[in-house]
Amino acid sequence: MSLNSFDQWKTEVLTQVHQGLDQWLPKADQVPATLHRAMHYAVKSPGKRIRSLIACAAGDLFGASIEGTVHSAVAIELMHTYSLVHDDLPCMDNDELRRGKPTVHVAFDEATAMLVGDALQPLAFSVLVNQQTNLDHELRLKQVHVLSESAGSLGMVGGQAIDLSQVGMSMNRRELELMHSKKTGALFFASAELGALCGTTYSESFQEPLRAYARQIGFGFQVVDDILDACSPTEVLGKSAGKDQRDNKPTYVTLFGLDRAKEMASEIAKNTKSTLGLLPREGGYLSDIAELVFDRVY
Ligand code: IPE
Ligand code: IPE
Ligand code: MG
Ligand code: MG
Ligand code: MG
Repeated sequence: MSLNSFDQWKTEVLTQVHQGLDQWLPKADQVPATLHRAMHYAVKSPGKRIRSLIACAAGDLFGASIEGTVHSAVAIELMHTYSLVHDDLPCMDNDELRRGKPTVHVAFDEATAMLVGDALQPLAFSVLVNQQTNLDHELRLKQVHVLSESAGSLGMVGGQAIDLSQVGMSMNRRELELMHSKKTGALFFASAELGALCGTTYSESFQEPLRAYARQIGFGFQVVDDILDACSPTEVLGKSAGKDQRDNKPTYVTLFGLDRAKEMASEIAKNTKSTLGLLPREGGYLSDIAELVFDRVY
């Protein structure tokens, strides 16, 4: 299929990702039905699907079709959704609103929310292993390795641990960046690398610029997340506004102030542009996605 505009391409990716999620999730009425209904509730609520777009754009950059990359996008969305369901639990951020709807532990109960996360995580690996694509076993193994490292204690979960341990404390910029590179950046990198591995023209030499891109938009995404938490109303955000300050979380806004945080976001956007120049076709759709990340309002 030849799609030349980003919007058309994005619509096609999102359609295929939603079909893929439906295909891989156990049916909502399958026993245990409450757990499966809660998994559908969490996964199919209206997320922005940024990580899916990154995976498919990286695939496209290295010659993979959307059909050839969508399984990777589905896997990363499942992993990301699990992280959000657990992040919202009372023992973590204790949030009641997510994607404009009651969080899973509010709509169901805490034990179900724990189990939703516990079930989505292995499902993500199952998708990578059992995907209906031509990827050989070595590449599948590599994908499993990338996702497991990025999601674990050296990646996303490690970032969440740092986040929780820093409540009420001050952090310098370097420490904050380290936390965010794990908490948010690790799954952005996994998205890019999983997608890239689906393409036949991807090689080691592109790993560093791809990693730099993921790191930069990961930071940018988090700086913007912190700015939006401070500036945007709950109805637009779809999650409780002003929560970081109420919870005493160290964020770019609480540590550096709103104006400096906004300047940082533009600096990171500029750096991302120069990194894109190191990738084929100036990063292709990855460049459009960077704009989405920096210009988003929710
Ligand atoms: C929220 O991620 C968690 C962060 C890493 C800040 P998103 O803003 O991508 O969440 P959804 O998937 O669109 O709900
Ligand atoms: C959550 O970060 C990041 C992960 C789930 C890994 P936040 O706690 O800042 O995300 P929001 O603001 O609740 O979406
Ligand atoms: Mg959190
Ligand atoms: Mg949170
Ligand atoms: Mg936040």
